[in-house]
Amino acid sequence: MADKTLKDKKIIISAGASGIGWATAKVCLSKGASVFICDVNKKYLAKVKKHPMNKKKLFIYECDASNEYEVKELFKLILKKTKKIDCLINNVGISGPTGTIEKLNSEDWENTLKTNVISHFYFTKLVIPMLKKNKGGSIINMSSTAGIAGFPLRSPYAASKWAIIGVTKTLAMELGKFNIRVNAICPGLIKGDRMTRVIRDKSKFLKLSKKSIERDFVSMSSLNNWILEEDIGKTCCFLMSDDALRVSGQVISVDGNTERMN
Ligand SMILES: NC(=O)c1ccc[n+]([C@@H]2O[C@H](COP(=O)([O-])OP(=O)(O)OC[C@H]3O[C@@H](n4cnc5c(N)ncnc54)[C@H](O)[C@@H]3O)[C@@H](O)[C@H]2O)c1
Repeated sequence: MADKTLKDKKIIISAGASGIGWATAKVCLSKGASVFICDVNKKYLAKVKKHPMNKKKLFIYECDASNEYEVKELFKLILKKTKKIDCLINNVGISGPTGTIEKLNSEDWENTLKTNVISHFYFTKLVIPMLKKNKGGSIINMSSTAGIAGFPLRSPYAASKWAIIGVTKTLAMELGKFNIRVNAICPGLIKGDRMTRVIRDKSKFLKLSKKSIERDFVSMSSLNNWILEEDIGKTCCFLMSDDALRVSGQVISVDGNTERMN
């Protein structure tokens, strides 16, 4: 039976056609919510369009979240389907380059900050009037354990994820009087395509085997294991549900307790 607290909620998820975004979309759909996902990757979009969960409650759009014009057009399309939105999950975020500061270039920095921080601004700016009209709602910003600690060789990514926490804390203060709750989630080491790429890049940079890099990553958390994409989806569902009506401005790690980042 669908979970009553999310039934009939309408949720936007950026970068929702694969990884954490898609896993979260599936958890939300299983709880009876309607989900509006966008993604830039045509291949992933085609795949989710064929998925058996794509029935009446999943709406799929192509959109580059880091392009303000495209995000505005996306909201126009969503508004044609629904006048009411309850929640936004600002999930989009790229891993950015791997390397020491001397080896990185400014384009890599700009691109990482644009996608990971400014794109959240585009979505948040457009959703706030809808949530105000709705007399409340929930915004979740995807940060990372790299947003609460340093992350060697990934300085642009760490900078972007710290920024997300600053924005979350600020928005929670600005929007509390409108009954809009704003929280950040810090995923740890997620089993999936992204970490496969991160491990490959780090092994290339440090000239160590992928196995040893993976072993080292896993040993960084107390639970000594991978986190699953659905674990993040479930935490999103809790934060959007009435069970979390008094939770705002919080930074919640789902990471098995990261003890070190190096
Ligand atoms: N995977 C991890 O280990 C991990 C850990 C901590 C935090 N996070 C954060 O969680 C979020 C999701 O991570 P993930 O691992 O699922 O990501 P991912 O790299 O697997 O990508 C997920 C989706 O993002 C889409 N995407 C990328 N750029 C886009 C853009 N400009 N516009 C629209 N869609 C775009 C991709 O097409 C893909 O479908 C990110 O913010 C990420 O930084 C991930």
